[in-house]
Amino acid sequence: MDSLLLFRFVLPCTLLLLLPSSSEAYDPLDPNGNITIRWDILSWTGDGYVAAVTLNNFQQYRHIQEPGWSLGWTWAKNEIIWQMIGGQTTEQGDCSKFKGQVSPHCCKKDPVAVDLIPGAPYSEQVANCCKGGVLTSLKQDPANAVASFRVVVGRAGTTTKSVRLPKNFTFKSPGPGYTCGPARIVKPTRFLRYDKRRVTQAMMSWNVTCTYSQFLAAKAPTCCVSLSTFYNDTIVSCPTCACGCQSGNCVDPNSPNLTSVISNPGNNGITCTSHSCPIRVHWHVKQNYKQYWRVKVTITNFNYRMNYSDWNLVIEHPNFDNLTQLYSFNYGSLIPYGGSMNDTAMLWGIKFFNDLLMQAGPLGYVQSDLLFGKDKSTFTFHEGWAFPRRIYFNGDNCVMPPPDVYPRLPNAGSQQKASPYLL
Ligand SMILES: *[C@@H]1O[C@H](CO)[C@@H](O)[C@H](O)[C@H]1NC(C)=O
Ligand SMILES: *[C@@H]1O[C@H](CO)[C@@H](O)[C@H](O)[C@H]1NC(C)=O
Ligand SMILES: *[C@@H]1O[C@H](CO)[C@@H](O)[C@H](O)[C@H]1NC(C)=O
Ligand SMILES: *[C@@H]1O[C@H](CO)[C@@H](O)[C@H](O)[C@H]1NC(C)=O
Ligand SMILES: *[C@@H]1O[C@H](CO)[C@@H](O)[C@H](O)[C@H]1NC(C)=O
Ligand SMILES: *[C@@H]1O[C@H](CO)[C@@H](O)[C@H](O)[C@H]1NC(C)=O
Ligand SMILES: *[C@@H]1O[C@H](CO)[C@@H](O)[C@H](O)[C@H]1NC(C)=O
Ligand SMILES: *[C@@H]1O[C@H](CO)[C@@H](O)[C@H](O)[C@H]1NC(C)=O
Repeated sequence: MDSLLLFRFVLPCTLLLLLPSSSEAYDPLDPNGNITIRWDILSWTGDGYVAAVTLNNFQQYRHIQEPGWSLGWTWAKNEIIWQMIGGQTTEQGDCSKFKGQVSPHCCKKDPVAVDLIPGAPYSEQVANCCKGGVLTSLKQDPANAVASFRVVVGRAGTTTKSVRLPKNFTFKSPGPGYTCGPARIVKPTRFLRYDKRRVTQAMMSWNVTCTYSQFLAAKAPTCCVSLSTFYNDTIVSCPTCACGCQSGNCVDPNSPNLTSVISNPGNNGITCTSHSCPIRVHWHVKQNYKQYWRVKVTITNFNYRMNYSDWNLVIEHPNFDNLTQLYSFNYGSLIPYGGSMNDTAMLWGIKFFNDLLMQAGPLGYVQSDLLFGKDKSTFTFHEGWAFPRRIYFNGDNCVMPPPDVYPRLPNAGSQQKASPYLL
């Protein structure tokens, strides 16, 4: 096992030393991942401006799922929001000082904006709005990795000199995890007309960048990994209590009236298991051919209260540079470590086929075979080489079993040359 330990622990550490050490939010698998919020002032009004606010998810594999994002900020002065289109603030605040016929949309010093839900009245929509706060990841669906709303701001500056940038941006997904930097003035955005024959530009634009850190999210793990092979009967299950230890608040799938147990808010909706994880990823080394080897990956949902739409997996294994066939997932390569390695794959479901990982129960799993071409100089079933180095589900690290319990080749160590599986 020594060389395996070396691979899993020493190698990633040396790589980490080569990477910039300052930023705590740095993710080597997605070094440029961030959410950028851009404000474009489209026009000035008598007492302020109209701005288009655009949220771009520039993260390869982290998406925002239901119930969606919320974006907060603090006004620099006494600005108010007269109107919002394609979005809304969660609270109106105290608008009692306004005597006019229309009351402002929001008078709070620190408004929080959320998306409208699909099917909002047509007059309240703008392009890229109204997705219930869902943002797909950049790799999976770039067209839906963007959200937008329009805001009419009053009691604000009416020139580029007098406008004050909002401060203290917060982005929630809807939980914590993101940290936003200050707004920075950027070159005014240019807009290409639909006929591509005229370009207009914003009066003024500023950007805010928010980055994710699993440490800040401070979540207990939500996913674990189990392993098996054709060459050893041992099934290595997820580590015990990988996602915490349940104390009677889980759902026993053998309950006489499961429906009523699931709807009972007195439990957490997660199947009682030794690992307590809502998600398990199983990696089964299935077959060995002369030139190829085959793996089956199964993702199982143990959560009775959650359908995972647009789920994704990120898997690191050295053989992904020679993935030859993938049967029922989509594939994209992530090129981490500054482009020097092609060992990390992002896998996600096929639209309308298995992009929805259903709630726990008989339909609560998705799976696919992966066929890898062998590189004779590195391929081996020894030392746990055939197992993944790490796995993320929806951007969260999955807890792996310890390497010393990985299924071993029969007689591993003593008779390397004689092993039929090496040929
Ligand atoms: C945010 O992400 C985009 C796209 O990856 C990148 O071009 C930009 O430099 C990033 N911004 C920051 C401040 O990291
Ligand atoms: C500002 O954000 C937009 C994305 O909305 C991005 O294309 C642009 O590069 C950013 N500008 C700067 C200077 O970061
Ligand atoms: C920014 O937000 C934090 C926490 O909500 C608050 O303590 C701080 O006073 C805010 N700063 C400004 C300038 O509003
Ligand atoms: C199960 O519980 C639900 C809700 O409490 C109830 O409506 C239903 O009749 C029960 N079914 C059985 C078979 O007891
Ligand atoms: C999951 O999706 C199925 C099919 O669309 C639906 O019947 C079920 O109620 C959903 N479950 C949850 C927990 O949202
Ligand atoms: C990484 O390897 C896969 C084959 O498994 C290939 O399809 C893909 O193009 C490679 N990506 C890069 C950037 O080399
Ligand atoms: C990929 O696999 C094929 C089939 O086994 C093999 O011929 C080829 O040499 C492999 N390529 C690399 C770069 O390992
Ligand atoms: C299967 O793997 C386990 C765990 O590494 C090991 O203890 C066992 O000896 C292996 N079985 C055989 C038949 O080699």
